[in-house]
Amino acid sequence: MKIFLDTANLDEIKELADLLDGVTTNPSLVAREEKPFRELLSEICRLVLGPVSAEVTALDVEGMVRQARELAKVADNVVIKIPMGLPGVRAVKRLAAEGIPTNVTLVFSPVQALWAAKAGATYVSPFVGRIDDRAGDGMELVAQILGIYENYGFDTQVIVASVRHVRHVVEAALLGAPIVTAPYRVVRQLFDHPLTDLGIERFLADWERAAG
Ligand code: E4P
Repeated sequence: MKIFLDTANLDEIKELADLLDGVTTNPSLVAREEKPFRELLSEICRLVLGPVSAEVTALDVEGMVRQARELAKVADNVVIKIPMGLPGVRAVKRLAAEGIPTNVTLVFSPVQALWAAKAGATYVSPFVGRIDDRAGDGMELVAQILGIYENYGFDTQVIVASVRHVRHVVEAALLGAPIVTAPYRVVRQLFDHPLTDLGIERFLADWERAAG
């Protein structure tokens, strides 16, 4: 399973860049950083070899395609994030024909994911955390999308997004989701366990005692 970092923060990306498979940003994350979007995107793309998602803000097809073409010029590893919906699906179809990779975002139903794949999306991002926040079952949606893509042999890859905690990552891995994108706090936790720290402490204490 590939692990993407869901952030636009350069310090967070720098700390984990050598291990990351990619980065996803969104307008809210970019707005937190005080840098012009294109400049920030270019720096992120230099730090990370894998795909870096950058989202359009236009809501009409022409505007989305225009912004996507501009963002795609920033670096070879830019992936254009397009919000789900009728204009979004049309824009994805146009961009796919031009060879521009896309990530269809804000996906909350299996049929939205079906349309995204039919249009030729490279990636689709179901937002599991936002579904769980409303007492739904985000992982059930991921399972449904994976099943549908398997049934029809779609190449579109599922990015499990809006991850809130480590359990989301575990559940995504158990379902065989190809990619998860998680915030820095969660990705950092994936390396640690209190029993690992305790174990290291005890091993070293025993070692020192024997040496003494
Ligand atoms: C995905 O690509 C989005 O940037 C992100 O996962 C949204 O997560 P949130 O629900 O925590 O804002």
